[in-house]
Formats: sequence, structure tokens, C-alpha cells
Amino acid sequence: MSRLIVVSNRLGDPSKPAKGGLAVALNGALNTIGGVWVGWSGNISETADGDGKLSVRQVGKVELAGIDLNQAEYDNYYLGYANSVLWPAFHHRLDLVSTEPEFDKFYRSVNRTFAHHIARLVEPEDVIWVHDYHLVPLAMELRALGLKNRIGFFLHIPFPPSQIAAAIPDGVWLMRTLFYYDLIGFQTQADVTNFKLYAERRLDVPVEDGDQVTAFGRTVTARSFPIGMDVDQFRALLDEEEAQEVITRLREKARGRKWITGVERLDYSKGLPDRMRIFQRLLRKYPDNIGVSTLVQIAPPTREGVDAYADIRQELEQLSGAVNGEFATIDWTPVRYIHRQVARVRLAAIFSISKVGLVTPLRDGMNLVAKEYVSVQPPDDPGVLVLSQFAGAAEEMTEALLVNPYDVEATADTLQRALTMPLEERQERFQALSGKVEDGDVVTWCRSFLEALHSVKPQSSPGDNA
Ligand code: G6P
Repeated sequence: MSRLIVVSNRLGDPSKPAKGGLAVALNGALNTIGGVWVGWSGNISETADGDGKLSVRQVGKVELAGIDLNQAEYDNYYLGYANSVLWPAFHHRLDLVSTEPEFDKFYRSVNRTFAHHIARLVEPEDVIWVHDYHLVPLAMELRALGLKNRIGFFLHIPFPPSQIAAAIPDGVWLMRTLFYYDLIGFQTQADVTNFKLYAERRLDVPVEDGDQVTAFGRTVTARSFPIGMDVDQFRALLDEEEAQEVITRLREKARGRKWITGVERLDYSKGLPDRMRIFQRLLRKYPDNIGVSTLVQIAPPTREGVDAYADIRQELEQLSGAVNGEFATIDWTPVRYIHRQVARVRLAAIFSISKVGLVTPLRDGMNLVAKEYVSVQPPDDPGVLVLSQFAGAAEEMTEALLVNPYDVEATADTLQRALTMPLEERQERFQALSGKVEDGDVVTWCRSFLEALHSVKPQSSPGDNA
């Protein structure tokens, strides 16, 4: 029987609370299907470049295979090419791209190291599913080692418009490596369109209406598979004692007050400073919120070795301090900013009593927080999702209040509309959104990607290297 080999940079542990959209989704998928998950072990070892050891352990149905990186690999592959070049560029922030000569060299060599480890553990019938921007060239490296297995790739972040993609250093090489996969999955139809336009405009190949694109003598299938969340697992958290305690405590404290909640890694793509300005505008323009509406912003630290992340932290702390200074009273703090990881059981509890889920990234692949917020709303008195039109989730979640987070004035007006929305309208919107979140959960996402991967005509030319 064919096993599933999942490969991602971040190796989740299905027995621990996961951090980040990808880890949350894959924990759900692998727990259901079982298989091998290969990724960075999280360890920085003192080995020579490319010598990172592989350690394998079994957790439930999943075999976890962790590869160590050394300091230079971590700095140049993870902090460097992945998070200082690809992450900002794919999120439309070319101004934040910074390059060093070593970045792409290490990006290629770490992908090659991953390929060597995978080639040793893979069996001919196994299906390989590679995740995210850290590992774009992995299929090419695996093919170079002679692997003929079906290999799929899923991009969790947005695919940029062709003019932005054209500005990525070594971009044509990177895009070429995508054609070594059998199937490429994107979050949205808009991403598929961007990929096809890139092929047409930058690679100069004819692109038809269907889902296949041929370039460099290879044909790849490109489709959208909007990622979902583990609805049952997240809802079940509400039954835990800890969740009930949090709900009771917050209800007592809240008495008549309204919580507006946002949760994301402290990343510049999430639009957190803009969100502070939006909330400040709300309090200035609609003073009935003073003493009543509180913004709970949970933003755990992330990728702190990259300068742009230190800058965003400073800006956010200044802004939240300014809003509190302007509006706080002796017994009310308008912004509760938490720069720490919060356990998922507590998040479920906080979402469930929040009147508004405020999800306003400037650019986002999908955003599972939007789905998590909806999934735990009480059907008899649901809160309202305010969602950026630039999150992938907006393509499906059209019954949310969709906003342009760059437009502070209009978004503050929409936030006020959410806070004062009549019950009937809240219920109608919730019913529609909740149905979509349930129908497109993580199991469905996983199943539809794997079914598509099994049904595409495989292509492989062993020994071929770009
Ligand atoms: C996003 C990316 C994931 C990444 C996660 C957390 O969701 O798409 O690939 O794992 O952020 O970021 P980190 O750099 O901590 O892995």
C-alpha cells in the first residue's frame, strides 16, 4: 500500500499544540491518514554543511523524521532565502526583500540535503507531498536522484502577480523547478491565475483554459485547493475544563463589554499596525465604544532573526501604547496586546465569546484564524467575522464583512457595523459561513489534493537537473 510522505520545513508534533497555519493543518491531515512527516528537526547542530543528521520517531500513526540544520544553513536558507526573499516577495513586499550571495546557495543545498534523506526512506509506491515556499526545488532534487514517485506541491502562501514574481532574484530558476512536480496546489483561484499569467508572460508559453501548463518540456497540473481547519478537534476544545474556566472568567470581567479579537504571528503581512489605526479611528469616530469595546490582539513572536520583524514589533508596541494612552480609563484598557503564544484551548474560548473576529492581513495565503473564529461561535448569538479582502479566505468566505485594511476610515465604519449588527443578520451570515467551514475542513482538503495527485498523469525524467 502506498504511504504518504509529507515534507515541510516546520516539523509538527501531532501530540503538541501546533503553531502556524501549515502545522495546524498537517497535524489534522496526518493524524487521519498516517504516514511519514519529514522536516527540519528544529535543532541547530554543529555539523558541516549538508551533514544534518536524520532522527526518526513514531508518534501515533505518524513517523516523524527530523533533519538537523547547522547555523549557516538556518541563517541563509530559513532566515535568508525563505524568509528574507521569498516570504516578503510572495506577500507583495519587494521593499522588504534583502539578498545576500549565500542565500540561494544554501537554499539549494538544504533542499538537496532533504532530497538525499527522503530518497533513502521512500519506497517506489509512496506518494510525496511537499509543502510551502521553503522547499520549492525539492522535486527537482528528488528527480535528479532517480525518484519516479508521484510528487505534489502545495503553496500555503499567495503566488505573486507576474511582475512581482519577475523581480525575485533567481526567479526563473525557482519557477522552473516547480515544473518537476506532477501537481501544484494553490490556496485560491486567484493564485492559479497568477501562476498561469506568469507562465504566459514571463516564460512565454501558451496557456490554455484547462489546468495544465507546459514549460521547459514538462507539463504540470495547477489547481486551487483551499485549505481547511480541523473543525471537530477545535470545537471539542470548548468542552475542556480550561476553556470553560476562561469563558466564565472573561464573562464575569466583560459584563456588558465587547471583545474584538485578532490572533496572528507578529508578521508584517498581517497588517497589525493598520489594525491599531483602525481601532483608534473606531474609538474616535464612534465614542459609544469607549469603555465598552476592547481589542484583544494576540501576536506571538516569530522569525526574530529577520530585521523587518523587529521593526514591526516596535511599531505595533508604540501604536498600542498610543491608543491606550489616549483612551484608557482607570478601570478599562482599550487594547490588550499579548506578545506570547496562547494555548489553542484558550484561543477557542476567547474566540467563542468575542463579538468580532478581526482578521485584516494585508496579504495572506488563506488565514485559518478566520475559519477557527467562525467554527466556535454560539449559533444562538454568533459574533461577526470582519475579513480582509486580501486574505485567501475571502475568496470563499463571502458572507463575512469584507474590508480593505488599507482604508482605515472605511474599515472602522465596517467594524462599527459588525459591533452593532442585529442578531438576525449575524445568524444568517454565521449559518452560511459555518456551513462552508465544515464542508471544506482539513480532511476534505487533504483528500481532494491526494485524489487529484493520484489521478494526474505522472511525469518524470530521472537524472534531469535544472
Ligand atoms: C506560515 C507558513 C508556514 C510556516 C508558518 C510559521 O503559515 O506558510 O510554512 O511554518 O507560517 O512560520 P515559521 O517561520 O515559524 O515556520
